[in-house]
Amino acid sequence: MSSTTERIDAAASGTFVIGGDMPVHRLGFGAMRITGPGIWREPQDPEEARRVLKRSVELGINFIDTADSYGPEVSERLIGEALYPYPAGLVVATKGGLVRPGPNDWQSVGRPAYLRQCVELSLRRLKLERIDLYQLHRIDPDVPAEDQFGVLRDMQKEGKIRHVGLSEVSVAEIESARKTVEIATVQNLYNLSNRKSEDVLDYCEANGIGFIPWFPVASGDLARPGGPLDEASKKHGATVAQLALAWLLKRSPVMLPIPGTSKVAHLEENTAAANVKLSDEEFSDWGARR
Ligand SMILES: NC(=O)c1ccc[n+]([C@@H]2O[C@H](COP(=O)([O-])OP(=O)(O)OC[C@H]3O[C@@H](n4cnc5c(N)ncnc54)[C@H](OP(=O)(O)O)[C@@H]3O)[C@@H](O)[C@H]2O)c1
Repeated sequence: MSSTTERIDAAASGTFVIGGDMPVHRLGFGAMRITGPGIWREPQDPEEARRVLKRSVELGINFIDTADSYGPEVSERLIGEALYPYPAGLVVATKGGLVRPGPNDWQSVGRPAYLRQCVELSLRRLKLERIDLYQLHRIDPDVPAEDQFGVLRDMQKEGKIRHVGLSEVSVAEIESARKTVEIATVQNLYNLSNRKSEDVLDYCEANGIGFIPWFPVASGDLARPGGPLDEASKKHGATVAQLALAWLLKRSPVMLPIPGTSKVAHLEENTAAANVKLSDEEFSDWGARR
């Protein structure tokens, strides 16, 4: 049966319990694309952006990833406007530690006073008393890493952050952070065709840490006409994007893909990937071919 004719429900992707006490359906939504070009200013179609957010919850998604730097401020503000009061069990994960001098420009600022302000302002925009998952967007190389981890631990103790995550880190950096603060998730670039973070994923799986792959729908050369994903697409009645997401979900039980889109049609398509089940042969063949 075609995966897209079944009822779309993110619950079909299975559940992962973040930090041991916060269950989410594994297939989530990345809210970076509901901003303008260059992840800058307002989206070209604000009504569609709001529809995407509302539809995500209807589709059973209860894990939404954003950051204060998306827009900046725009993505968080739209989430607050479209979804507050939040349905029970919805986890809105955000990030701080990057500033935006302009479109497509991202720079780290990890001074503790700045990170503290980031958390306070995200709380206001998201209309929350506590952020369920707060991720350090990048470790600032110009500031002692322990100071950056330390301020997040302090704000966790103050009740402003429930769980702490990291982004774009090595295994050594995760281990170093864990000496200061418990790490619940790691968010690194990872997809079928870019698996440079394989060691980080294995470390996360071994330690019960959620792994959030960003840019998850990419599949590179595997998707070429006549290539393996193109062939499988006909067999499964699924799109190449769905197959790429299904591969990620099969790769590890700690995998939490957050495909991003500005369009309801793509959101529905991506979430329907929860129903696509790959064979072991497909999984290992595509994994070996990258
Ligand atoms: N931690 C980090 O440093 C970092 C960096 C980048 C992103 N992220 C997070 O990861 C999330 C996902 O990353 P991403 O947005 O870069 O990558 P992605 O979700 O893999 O891809 C998004 C791009 O693919 C398009 N797309 C999405 N679904 C599609 C579909 N079914 N068919 C055809 N095109 C489709 C989108 O355009 P349309 O809008 O036209 O659908 C958009 O251009 C972001 O939203 C953000 O939350 C984190």
